[in-house]
Amino acid sequence: MAKTDERHLVQSALPTDNTAVSELLQCLDTENYKFSDIDGVTNHIDNNQCFVIRGDGELLGVVILDVDDQSLQVKYIVSKAKGGGRDLLRFSEEYALDRNLLKIWCWSLVRYQAIGFYAKMGFTEQFLLKKQNYGEDCYIFGKVLQK
Ligand SMILES: CC(C)(COP(=O)(O)OP(=O)(O)OC[C@H]1O[C@@H](n2cnc3c(N)ncnc32)[C@H](O)[C@@H]1OP(=O)(O)O)[C@@H](O)C(=O)NCCC(=O)NCCS
Repeated sequence: MAKTDERHLVQSALPTDNTAVSELLQCLDTENYKFSDIDGVTNHIDNNQCFVIRGDGELLGVVILDVDDQSLQVKYIVSKAKGGGRDLLRFSEEYALDRNLLKIWCWSLVRYQAIGFYAKMGFTEQFLLKKQNYGEDCYIFGKVLQK
């Protein structure tokens, strides 16, 4: 079968997506911090920082972005669809370049075991900060973008 280059469509989240986004983000929650907090999610949607991949009656992926000091932080990313993570990051990089931001970066708790994913996506800057987040080891990953 021919290999398809079809990408998942990434769209702005709607106010009515807040519960579904919160449910997707639950896999990031820890004993110390609730990344899925519904008020936080609603704020991100209201501030146009939240982007989703839609499936059949459900959300398959979400990325929440934040422009910080002329760089783009990927605050949260979750994908339930093969290739969804790649497409959410591609979207994020295009979002950054459209705004002349040449740096994309994120925090990632070691427990998420996402280092291989970011490496595949070209985040060659990888630093481990021990006891960084509520006493928990955390990576910071970065990538310089080319115009
Ligand atoms: C990490 C996550 C976003 C990746 O999304 P995904 O849709 O599964 O990833 P993709 O299918 O787009 O994978 C892209 C490539 O990365 C690889 N990859 C994906 N997750 C990986 C991981 N955890 N470790 C190593 N490689 C990984 C894939 O095999 C693929 O490689 P290929 O190009 O050789 O086929 C997703 O697994 C997820 O939501 N995890 C739980 C939440 C999380 O950890 N988020 C990140 C917190 S910072």
